[in-house]
Amino acid sequence: MDYKKHIAQRIKIEGVSEEEIYSSIALPPNSEMGDYALPCFKFAKILRKSPAIIAESLKSAYVTDAVISEVSAINGYLNFKVNKASLAERVLNEILSSREKYGSSEIGKGKTICIDYSSVNIAKPFHIGHLSTTVLGGALYKLYKFLGYSVVGINHLGDYGTQFGKLICAYKHWGNKEEVEKGGIHAINELYVRFNNEADEAMKSEAREYFRLIENGDKEANEIFEWFKSLTLKYVHGIYEKLGVTFDSYAGERFYIDKMQPVIDELRAAKLLKESEGAQIVELYDYSMPPCLILRSDGASLYSTRDLAAACYRKNTYDFHKCLYVVAYQQNLHFKQIFKVLELMGKEWAKDLIHVAYGMVSLEDGAMSTRNGRVVWLEDVINACIDKAYKIIGEKNPELKNKEEIAEKVGVGAVIFGALYNNKIKDIVFSYDKVLSFDGETSVYVQYTCARANSVIAKSGCAGTVPEKYEPNAQEFEVIKALASFPSVLDEAAEKYEPSYIARYTVDLAQKFNKFYIDCKVISAEGDTKQFRLALTSAVSQTLKNALAILGIGIPEKM
Ligand code: ARG
Repeated sequence: MDYKKHIAQRIKIEGVSEEEIYSSIALPPNSEMGDYALPCFKFAKILRKSPAIIAESLKSAYVTDAVISEVSAINGYLNFKVNKASLAERVLNEILSSREKYGSSEIGKGKTICIDYSSVNIAKPFHIGHLSTTVLGGALYKLYKFLGYSVVGINHLGDYGTQFGKLICAYKHWGNKEEVEKGGIHAINELYVRFNNEADEAMKSEAREYFRLIENGDKEANEIFEWFKSLTLKYVHGIYEKLGVTFDSYAGERFYIDKMQPVIDELRAAKLLKESEGAQIVELYDYSMPPCLILRSDGASLYSTRDLAAACYRKNTYDFHKCLYVVAYQQNLHFKQIFKVLELMGKEWAKDLIHVAYGMVSLEDGAMSTRNGRVVWLEDVINACIDKAYKIIGEKNPELKNKEEIAEKVGVGAVIFGALYNNKIKDIVFSYDKVLSFDGETSVYVQYTCARANSVIAKSGCAGTVPEKYEPNAQEFEVIKALASFPSVLDEAAEKYEPSYIARYTVDLAQKFNKFYIDCKVISAEGDTKQFRLALTSAVSQTLKNALAILGIGIPEKM
């Protein structure tokens, strides 16, 4: 039951949509005033009245019911008090009957969302810089599915470019089959680094020749390339499995090579293509952007050309409602250019292309880049987190069984949560100690809270039933309100492409539950109180589980 929606549906303000009212409704920090509040300041301009007068007149028009028991107008705010007993009863019943479906909806039914994420580069290191795109994309993927959308996860592989000529050349000179087979992506990367450091002019021209051979379908060159590709994918699959992310398509840049010509023809027919120093460009001067390069002077396509073809292909194939690109903000200009070019081509759906930009991740010691060999492989970060988690839980609870399994859930969870907790556009410094803290704003804290809730239920032997007309006390009610807001948190996260809202929500709910748990007895309570508190505890556990599952984080039964 979404109480914000309930309220929004019952307020009419001329010139303001229900959605706008809905998103304006806030939870006041101090519930003495009300449980929900609508600030009227932003309507003052449209209505040409003071916020206080607006609040007064909305108050007179509002009809209270079984859900909202009291409405007041104070200092330009319209405050709502909910009928606590009825809210508690509805919310708990809803959670305990819908269980792992609590929070899900059908809002996306019939709509498809494409999400381009992780998009690894073949034969290049999968490093900590890829963490955000992988877990952000993975979370958005699960979130939209939960909200009823069909979702297409696309790994737009970086599998085209002159670097593959260099790699094959390096392999031919210095490589060895067994070593590469054994060393996998690390061995390939070493060859690449060595080429960049040591190749002379002769090797460089040989590399260009190898690139041409791949392009012309030469059997041997393509076999080596495919081999490198399969080694890279094997490596990243291991990481995807750990992080719980999946893809429906691995159509990468190479896939679009034979799909670019129609786009180029269309650009030409629309008179958008201009020649500039032998290259073909689309001028974007009028939009304060440098030109978008379509073909180089030697006729070769570019990253942009392939992205234009990819966007058209996705529209034709999936008829998406939206197509998201979860890519670092360094590529802001690239996507602005691509979207603008498509708009100029008359693709009305260009407005549905969204660059979900995110900030950089670095480690505390400043390491992150692949240049000068200081690569921090994502796999190493994940494994280090699992190892540290193993130590920490061992110290905290030496008797624990299945420590490995638990450490994996805790360690992987910490990596994901660490990357998702902050607003996505912020640069983050990844700290092992911080993400693994039991009492910080961490997944460990949330997992631990959940495990504690589960053990309360296990000890009492029943999950509680929801008594009728139970009047919750202040701490209980804080938890109830947080539980009730879960669906709207998901809606907002989906609307803003911001899984951090969900991560923050789990910490907030866990904190409220812990406050309740400190102040209120559960197992030794009696009668309706006990039943209610047990039901509340189960509902918290379920909701935390659902929320973390969207982020790709599992919950150990015990910790
Ligand atoms: N492989 C690219 C990179 O690592 C990201 C690709 C993003 N997707 C896209 N359609 N351009 O920078």
